[in-house]
Amino acid sequence: MARYSICVVPGDGTGPEVVAEAVKVLDAAATRFGFGYETEYLDLGGERHLRTGETLTDADLAVMRRSDAILFGAIGHPEVKPGILEQGVLLRIRRELDQYINLRPVKLYPGVASPVADVRPEDVDFVVVRENSEGLYVGSGSFSEKGTPDEVAIQESVNTRRGVERCIRYAFELANSRPRRHLTLCGKTNVLTYAWDLWARVFEEVAAGYPDVETAYAHVDAVCLWMVEDPARFDVVVTDNMFGDIITDLGAAIQGGMGIASGGNVCPGGVSMFEPIGGTAPGFEGTGQINPLAAIGAAAMMLTELGETAAGSAVEEAVGLVAGSLPSLRAGRMGATTKEVGDRVVEVVSGAR
Ligand code: IPM
Ligand code: MN
Repeated sequence: MARYSICVVPGDGTGPEVVAEAVKVLDAAATRFGFGYETEYLDLGGERHLRTGETLTDADLAVMRRSDAILFGAIGHPEVKPGILEQGVLLRIRRELDQYINLRPVKLYPGVASPVADVRPEDVDFVVVRENSEGLYVGSGSFSEKGTPDEVAIQESVNTRRGVERCIRYAFELANSRPRRHLTLCGKTNVLTYAWDLWARVFEEVAAGYPDVETAYAHVDAVCLWMVEDPARFDVVVTDNMFGDIITDLGAAIQGGMGIASGGNVCPGGVSMFEPIGGTAPGFEGTGQINPLAAIGAAAMMLTELGETAAGSAVEEAVGLVAGSLPSLRAGRMGATTKEVGDRVVEVVSGAR
C-alpha cells in the first residue's frame, strides 16, 4: 500500500476550517482507494509571526522538504503589515521548493451559477499554467528620491530563458494530455517588448516539438474579455506570474467564485503545494459559513499529483457534484455549514451515495 507524508499548513483566518474538511475527505479517499498517509502539521502564518517574529524557519522548510506534498490553507492577518507573510511564507515556499508552476483549473460544474449569463458548463473547462518563480514576483527594483516629488519606483520583471522554457514545456505537456490539445499563450507582446518577445520565441521553439497541439496567442487584455465573452476558446493557457495571478481570479469568478477555486504550486518531481486560492476570508473565520470546496479541490489536485489519480478524480467529481447541489458557493449563502459541505463530499467519495 502506498503511503504518503503530507505536510499540512492550516494557516490563518478560515484556513484551518477549510483544511480540516479537506483532511476529512483525504481520510475517506484513503479508505476507499487503499492508500495510507501521515500528516505533519506546521503552524505558519500571522498568529505565529505576532507571537515569535518568525515567518518560515529552516526547520519548517526541512519538514516540507521531507514531505511528499503540502496542503496549504491560507495566510494573512489584519495586524501584520501586508507583504510580510506573503513574501515571508507563501512566496518563499514557492521559491525554496522551486514550485515553478502554478496550476489553476477553471471549471464550471453543472448546477453552479456563474455570474456570466448564458455560459454553460461545457464552455468553461480550462487550465491556467502560471509561471510561479519569476516575472514581477522576484522582488527586483528600486526607489530613487524616495518621498520627494521626484520619486521614481521601479519594479522589474525578470524572465529567464530557462524559467520561461520549463513553464512553456509543462504547458505543452499538459495540453498534449488533454482531449482538445489546445494551448494559448497569454502575453503582451505589443507593449512589453522584451519579456514577451522572449516568451513568444520560446513558445514557437517548444511548439515545434508538439505538432499535435494547436496553438494560439492572445494579449492579456483580450484574454480577460474572452474569459467572460467566450471562455470556450480556452483549453490550456500559459502565462507569466503577474498576468497569471490576475487572470486566475477572473477565472475563479466565472467558475462560481473563490469558494471553488483551487490551485497547485507544482515542482515536477519535487514537493508541490496545494491551496484554495481565495485567502483567509476575513470576517468569516469561526462562522462555519465558509465554503471548503476549494480546499477539498486542492486536496484532489494533490492526490492526482501524487499519482493517486483514481482518488484524485473521484474527489474532484465529488466536489463538482456537491457544488452543483448548493444554492450558492458564496460564504454565508451555501445553505449548509462548512462542516456539512465537507460531510457531503465525504459521503460521495465513500460511495455511500
Ligand atoms: C495567489 C495570491 C498570492 C500571489 C499572494 C497572496 C502573494 O494572490 O496565490 O494568487 O499573488 O501569488
Ligand atoms: Mn492571486
